[in-house]
Amino acid sequence: MGGVRHFIDLDRLEGRTLRSILDKAAAMKRGRNGAPKGAPDHDKPLAGRVLAMIFEKASTRTRLSFDIAMRQLGGEGIVMNAADLQIGRGESASDTAKVLSRYVDAIMIRTHKSAMLEEMVANATVPVINGLTDDSHPCQLMADVLTFEEKKGPIAGKVVTWSGDGNNVARSWVHAAVRFDFELRLACPEPLSPSAEILDWARREGGRVRLVHDARAAAAGADAVVTDAWVSMGQKAGDRHNLLKPFQVDRHVMAAAKPDAVFMHCLPAHRGEEVTAEVIDGPQSIVFDEAENRLHAQKGILAWCMA
Ligand code: CP
Ligand code: NVA
Repeated sequence: MGGVRHFIDLDRLEGRTLRSILDKAAAMKRGRNGAPKGAPDHDKPLAGRVLAMIFEKASTRTRLSFDIAMRQLGGEGIVMNAADLQIGRGESASDTAKVLSRYVDAIMIRTHKSAMLEEMVANATVPVINGLTDDSHPCQLMADVLTFEEKKGPIAGKVVTWSGDGNNVARSWVHAAVRFDFELRLACPEPLSPSAEILDWARREGGRVRLVHDARAAAAGADAVVTDAWVSMGQKAGDRHNLLKPFQVDRHVMAAAKPDAVFMHCLPAHRGEEVTAEVIDGPQSIVFDEAENRLHAQKGILAWCMA
């Protein structure tokens, strides 16, 4: 990686680096003092810098929050759908990365296969940021930790319960639990649990990550309950609805958690599937603060990558 600051996955960075990114993000958020959303921060730390964003999958939050983040940092973003680029008709990720590195100061990519992201990283001479793959969603977790801490104080030592599909976001929660030192209980159906490989990684790193197969038991005494879509982008529904129904976050799951526990979801949500409307639209839900914090957390990430 030769000194270029890529943001690929939380397990690839040290806890203190991630903490410094969040500290910076929180400071920049405070510093805006209600300025209009498109107005740059007073110091314009990324003035003259350009971020290229490539999307192989749909996006609302990631697309908008990275674009607005660059404007607030004093730079610019260019959003591109992969289907409109030559990469969409077979140009290699390596050539694309080499070409983009001649034009822009950083690249964000949302892609299906993490191998494509790795090929970009191996060939780019500017920072590459993971905007979600089939395997992980690290930018989401930076926003989630920022949001949790705004509501509940330091996340270290706290208990977070994930109930649902052991998907890309769940995997990034595993990375976050280890790097930010909190307990993570994963309630997932057996066939949709995170791989033994990532659970072994967490164990080797001394993390407190446990797999259970009952949502209410997993939520007992938790500080936060988290879930995500039952069918992620690019997946087929298959038997997922049947397998995941017992892991729906409803009032009973929330009642098992601490009375002041928060409910979190990266969005987009499917009311009546992974979460009931009563919970996601109820007083414990902090999902729109999470969505807002994508912007602030990514400003920290972008500033770190392009420092
Ligand atoms: N949470 C999230 O990444 O949302 P988008 O898919 O809308 O970017
Ligand atoms: N797990 C979801 C997250 C969307 C932000 C997906 O990959 O579709």
